[in-house]
Amino acid sequence: MLPTGRSRSKWIARILFVIVLVGLFVPYFYFRSDEYWQQKNYDDAMTFHKKSTFQPRASTNFLLEYMSNSLLSDKEEIRGGHRGIHFHWDDWIDLSPGDSILNDYRETFPEGECDSSLQEFGNVNPFWMESHHKKLLRSSVFSYCTLPIPKQIFFMGDNNLIKVPVSSKERLAIGNTPYSREELVNKMVLLESSLDKKKESLIETIPFEEFPKTIEINTEEFVFNPDYEILKLKSKLNKDTPSKDDGEKFEMKDMEYLDFLEYANSYVDTAPKYFKYPWIYSDLFKGQAHHLEFKFFRRYIGDHERQSVVHHMSRAWFEFAQANNIVSWINYGSLLGWVYNGVNMPWDTDVDIQVPINELAKLTRRGLNNTLVIENPRFGNAKYLFDISPSFIRQGNSNNFIDARFIEVNSGLYIDISALSKTNYPPPSEIFEGLTESEVKSVIPVNCKNFNWQLIEEILPIKYATFEGGPSFIPNQVSRILDRKYGRESYTTKEEFKGHNYQSDLNMWVPDRICKFPHLTDPRFVLGDKSRLTLEGACDSIELQDEYQIVYESSQRHIALEDEQDTPVSYNIGKLGSLPISRKDPWDYFHDINKDLVKHDRWFVKVKGKEKST
Ligand SMILES: *[C@@H]1O[C@H](CO)[C@@H](O)[C@H](O)[C@H]1NC(C)=O
Repeated sequence: MLPTGRSRSKWIARILFVIVLVGLFVPYFYFRSDEYWQQKNYDDAMTFHKKSTFQPRASTNFLLEYMSNSLLSDKEEIRGGHRGIHFHWDDWIDLSPGDSILNDYRETFPEGECDSSLQEFGNVNPFWMESHHKKLLRSSVFSYCTLPIPKQIFFMGDNNLIKVPVSSKERLAIGNTPYSREELVNKMVLLESSLDKKKESLIETIPFEEFPKTIEINTEEFVFNPDYEILKLKSKLNKDTPSKDDGEKFEMKDMEYLDFLEYANSYVDTAPKYFKYPWIYSDLFKGQAHHLEFKFFRRYIGDHERQSVVHHMSRAWFEFAQANNIVSWINYGSLLGWVYNGVNMPWDTDVDIQVPINELAKLTRRGLNNTLVIENPRFGNAKYLFDISPSFIRQGNSNNFIDARFIEVNSGLYIDISALSKTNYPPPSEIFEGLTESEVKSVIPVNCKNFNWQLIEEILPIKYATFEGGPSFIPNQVSRILDRKYGRESYTTKEEFKGHNYQSDLNMWVPDRICKFPHLTDPRFVLGDKSRLTLEGACDSIELQDEYQIVYESSQRHIALEDEQDTPVSYNIGKLGSLPISRKDPWDYFHDINKDLVKHDRWFVKVKGKEKST
């Protein structure tokens, strides 16, 4: 139907309005400098922290007390649940942006219930474009009401990964007592020393062990056929009398796993995107929210803060994965960053990790999906949600390329995990480059859901490497993989990239806004201390001085041991150990400045882990 005269003029008015809006928006957001955005994000973070009374250490403290009570006292006496800890997201993440709505509910229902109108408010699709303020409200309400509680919590101690079951959704109003880091560390040490006191307990422990140099992976791990798995399970269930339910085990029973597979197998053909980020008007041109999980969205994250999250997160991931026998390795942007100087590239918005597809099936079956992981309080206040998309099982409608995420819940930043599998799609010919005819026949190409192809033979065996100063794994033939994906120049001769330039005497990427390939007459390094730059040597930038000191040890180790990307020098992993954490925890950073506890704004710290007793 054609519009009538009146509605036509209404439409013209609307269109004009949009044109004017865009005309104003584009210059405002598009032509602002990087410096402007960094400063704005920094100021916003500071304001956010000043307003919020949330204390990330309060929940960790509660967990520590809960664990030691469950070890040492009678189960019935434990505050917080005697068959597992009660959990409500309101106790664990900062939902203060939703206070204007949530406070009434907290008062009326102290245990954290919602009503349907509140639920509806939080359930609006994150891709629905709205204002920043509205999105924050929605994301806070969504996490409060609807976000499933984790199945279990893993606490990362000095020597052990400690697992605590979650029993039910209940708000404990843990509060915002400002516990100090030392208090938490002392409680952790005490707890770990008493772990063997009591055998009968809710909590399970997995001791951390030394990382292996290489890991071979069975090629069958790259094959997953849901239809076949469903058939196999059905025929097993038909033959077997179902085994008795054995209570507290987390492993999925056959029946439950079958239900999951059948659900996922139809879900994957109609699924929308599983991992969502908030769509916000004012973010239309800059897209800063594109790298933030909706459910934990609070504010945009500046470069230094993000680098800190990435630093802590990649180390936590590989420790967590190793303790749980999860095989994974870094790839793409993160691997490219590693080739240069052993750390992620400063502008990279996430960490990219790959796993064989069957790994995700096994993890789902082992009940490890939807697990909350608590960082060792020595290092920081981070908490991570391990979240597997049910769409991992096969290609489906191609709405989902990312198969799982390890999400830092204070910021919404994450590690992207993609599964590689052997499929029936035809591989591109580049993948066979340089191979003889008989090799072409024997190699096994695998791909992720975004159709990045690799050969299993390029990946295996995966090798230990130091990434961000901590343990990680890399594929076997790094150069072959990077050459095909980015071209050889990407890591041999390229010196300018995304507003940064690689200064090889510093072994690091420097933002162009600070300086571009400077020719300095004054000495660059502090006399007798190569780990520090003079102010002139840092192009008069304290920021660069800070950043250089942060990356120094990682880049030095990288150059000494891993400069040859395909054949690193062999070294004793246990003896060298991880490098200290060198980026301050973001919450501590803003907190310390706001409370005047520091007289500078540097991110550099040097936090050593406890020497492992071996
Ligand atoms: C993982 O847990 C989340 C939250 O409960 C759920 O939505 C998702 O479907 C689960 N994924 C798998 C693979 O079971």
